[in-house]
Amino acid sequence: MDKLLITGGERLFGSVKVSAAKNAVLPLFAASVLTEERVTIRGVPKITDALCMAQILRELGAEVTFTGGDVTIDSASSCSHEIPPSLTRELRSSVFMLGSLLTRFRRALIAYPGGCDIGLRPIDMHLQALRRLGVTIDEHDGYIFCKCDCLKGADISLDFPSVGATENVLLAAVKAEGRTVLRGAAREPEIVDLQNFLNAMGAKIAGAGGDVIVIDGVKRLSGVDYTPMKDRIEAGTYLIMGAAAGGEVETEGVFPENLGLLLHKLRENGCKIGAKNDKIRVESSGKLRANRRIETMPFPGFPTDLQAQAAALNSGAEGSALITENLFETRFKYVPELKKMGADIEVKGRTALIRGVPRLHGASLLAGDLRGAAALVVAALGAEGVSEVLDLTHLDRGYEDLVSKLKKLGAKLRRVRV
Ligand code: UD1
Repeated sequence: MDKLLITGGERLFGSVKVSAAKNAVLPLFAASVLTEERVTIRGVPKITDALCMAQILRELGAEVTFTGGDVTIDSASSCSHEIPPSLTRELRSSVFMLGSLLTRFRRALIAYPGGCDIGLRPIDMHLQALRRLGVTIDEHDGYIFCKCDCLKGADISLDFPSVGATENVLLAAVKAEGRTVLRGAAREPEIVDLQNFLNAMGAKIAGAGGDVIVIDGVKRLSGVDYTPMKDRIEAGTYLIMGAAAGGEVETEGVFPENLGLLLHKLRENGCKIGAKNDKIRVESSGKLRANRRIETMPFPGFPTDLQAQAAALNSGAEGSALITENLFETRFKYVPELKKMGADIEVKGRTALIRGVPRLHGASLLAGDLRGAAALVVAALGAEGVSEVLDLTHLDRGYEDLVSKLKKLGAKLRRVRV
């Protein structure tokens, strides 16, 4: 198990090239089994979630080749509709495979999916939507077995704009008979990216980015060569790191409209924000005011995937911040670790009250989930003294080349074997 050693207090200066978005790339892997032709996805980040998705495809019989950052998937000889439980439990995104396996084989067998331990994360909406398309679902002993004679377009309404359920509907309805109208869809930019990818394969989907998506089933989908969008959460994390440490950090690859509320909150903190095309720059003195309130919401609200990092930033700011987590029940697991650094945080249910302290201090920290781990790095960069962050498996799931990107900005850190 590796750990990070971070010496806080160094200002950060320079530019970060943002990698392709984890949450865009993972559904594209799933979508690649919708065709027997070759699919190329450009610039896939070296993160373990992507490798795990590639492994799932291989288990199904596909050939997956990594060349530099590009991945070629040839699933002509895919013949299995069963995903081994060891892989589904490792990765939440394996749930997307339900939609694409049903489209390809009319059958899908998966174990209940895993992913970050940040709450209950049920998949009832996914299953309900698939039933509307004509799928029969049998759940027993931790397995989900789905089958259908044919998929039929339907009117579907989601009770909550779930990102994963929206993507699963796209994958299951894309070749269904007739038209599917999905209401209450999630509006995240990654869903637009999936729509673009599928349309480039020959699908007829319109409306992604809004809350009604119309999918006209097509008979066949072809191969595609596609470059996915960049990771707004990775960009947001580096901007928050720049704010916490002080200095001037620019991200390259993400458009400001995809991070609207974060940029507003950083301005509230007292940072200067500049944005042009796909470049965003944060300028920070390191001495910040706390945000009075942050509430996580589905896009375009404040992203739950940046909540922990924002909490870390506010821990060392002047004043108090009230952070409400509306998406996942247990997404404050990083709080005891920040407290080891001197943070003053009180959690009650879904809300954390943070009373900023003048300076956090270095400590030995144990990461518990992906974004919680990023929050510990944010805090360590702004803190006085040396911190160690243990258990990098979480960071490796979602941040490509974190150490070299931070070193390029002037951070003092290294990865060492424990
Ligand atoms: C995706 C993202 C994740 C992000 C989240 C919210 C991927 C791979 N992951 O996760 O990084 O934090 O969106 O922006 O894209 N829910 C149900 N029943 C369901 C489905 C969801 O109750 O069938 C609930 C969840 O428990 C949660 C809320 O809906 O409270 C939102 O979840 P959802 O949007 O589905 O998140 P994911 O797709 O899992």
